[in-house]
Amino acid sequence: MAKRYGNLIGGKWITQGSKGTLENRNPANDREIVGIFPQSGIKEVNAAVSAAKKAFEKWRLVPAPKRGEIIKRAGDLMVKYKEELAKLETREMGKILDETRGDVQEGIDTAYYMAGEGRRMFGDTVPCELPNKTGFSIRQPVGVCGMITPWNFPMAIPTWKAFPALVCGNTVVIKPATDTPATVVRLGEILEEAGLPPGCFNIICGSGSGVGAPLCEHPDVRAISFTGSTNVGAQIAEVCGRLNKKVSLEMGGKNAQIVMDDADLDLALQGALWGAFGTSGQRCTATSRLILHKKIAKKFIAMLVKEASKLRVGNGLDAKTQMGPIVNESAMKGILEYIRIGKEEDKATLALGGKQLKRGNHAKGWFLEPTIFTGVTHKMRIFWEEIFGPVLSVIEVKSFDEAIERINQSHFGLSSSIYTRDVNRAFAAIRDIEAGITYINGPTIGAEIQLPFGGVKGTGNGHRESSHTVLDMFTEWKSVYVDFSGQLQRAQIDTE
Ligand code: UN1
Repeated sequence: MAKRYGNLIGGKWITQGSKGTLENRNPANDREIVGIFPQSGIKEVNAAVSAAKKAFEKWRLVPAPKRGEIIKRAGDLMVKYKEELAKLETREMGKILDETRGDVQEGIDTAYYMAGEGRRMFGDTVPCELPNKTGFSIRQPVGVCGMITPWNFPMAIPTWKAFPALVCGNTVVIKPATDTPATVVRLGEILEEAGLPPGCFNIICGSGSGVGAPLCEHPDVRAISFTGSTNVGAQIAEVCGRLNKKVSLEMGGKNAQIVMDDADLDLALQGALWGAFGTSGQRCTATSRLILHKKIAKKFIAMLVKEASKLRVGNGLDAKTQMGPIVNESAMKGILEYIRIGKEEDKATLALGGKQLKRGNHAKGWFLEPTIFTGVTHKMRIFWEEIFGPVLSVIEVKSFDEAIERINQSHFGLSSSIYTRDVNRAFAAIRDIEAGITYINGPTIGAEIQLPFGGVKGTGNGHRESSHTVLDMFTEWKSVYVDFSGQLQRAQIDTE
């Protein structure tokens, strides 16, 4: 019998769902059920929001350093359980163990960073224009925060959102992705074990329409933090705009790596392989376009196709596997559809892969060959649209200026990369690429949590996660004026 998991509402685990149950299957073996979860609806959302609202009354008054200590303990527990968490994540999401260990590590890093914010959360202290008066600003919690998280980073992304929110004194209702609720349930158990009071962190499992929509609509939810598709993000933005809620959106990407003619080609090759095929290309930051200078293109494509064809695709729990499965059947269908479109596009050539793997070790799961299209131009759909799979489009350019023009031809602007040994070009790229993240001589994936994470243009709505910048999402500024003159002093008027 598969294990039954529950929603977490006001400190109680409840396996019953008002809309039945939700099965979570292993993408490397579709017959293996990782767990059975409640399929919830508005009833559970209402209960969780009211529990979070009640818990907020006390939690906001716990000193921030103490709140930080609880998050620090959660980080310690994640260190203790790292291997178990990584294995569970690989079973429910598919990516290889090295990567799920990294995913858990990103959560640990976030815990330790945000625990420290409990003792910082800097505001400003400024001089006032009137005598015997002083001014400063403080961060205050927003209230109940709703979170809708994706399946590709089942631990890291929930911690990016929940840990800063909690340290700032907010309470949380989170809807994990239907493909990866088990990892978020473990996060809830860890926060309980770390001493987080009941009601501060609530989990409601279920679909976007069943749980996500009522969470966004609920009048007592003051902020929504979302990572996921551009379509869903646009709907959430409309609801939050209408209801005047804070909203942070992290959506699509069509990230590119540029390789200039002076680059270290072996290094650039390692970067392209990791950026395009790590996590089977299922990262917002994945490299889906490779922009090559004409002078090195032929040689580089040969090197790339040779190495990519050697990647071992399989079950992520097997230590020899280098690329795990696609998360589920519908994602597989979507990627195969783009491969079909790519094959039909004028002049694009399928240089590697393109087929679903269905035999032997691959028979039970959703496996796809690493796929490379060459001869791609900016007139093609595979140049513009996010595929979210191991499909790389190669574009050739004649100059640095053309490379910058191509990289910026995108509706998105999350991550970017350039391989060059020319320091002038590197700095010009930092200035001119339209993206939230630019790597010099590194792949487009692998952001660290102490710098802001997010993108420009269609990728986001101006907010950033990670680093101290995420605090802007989970706090409201209060400006405080203390007049100790004992008399009415009128700003801008009594200044002589
Ligand atoms: C994502 O795919 O949404 O920078 C997050 C990276 C990871 C996070 C990716 N640290 O690739």
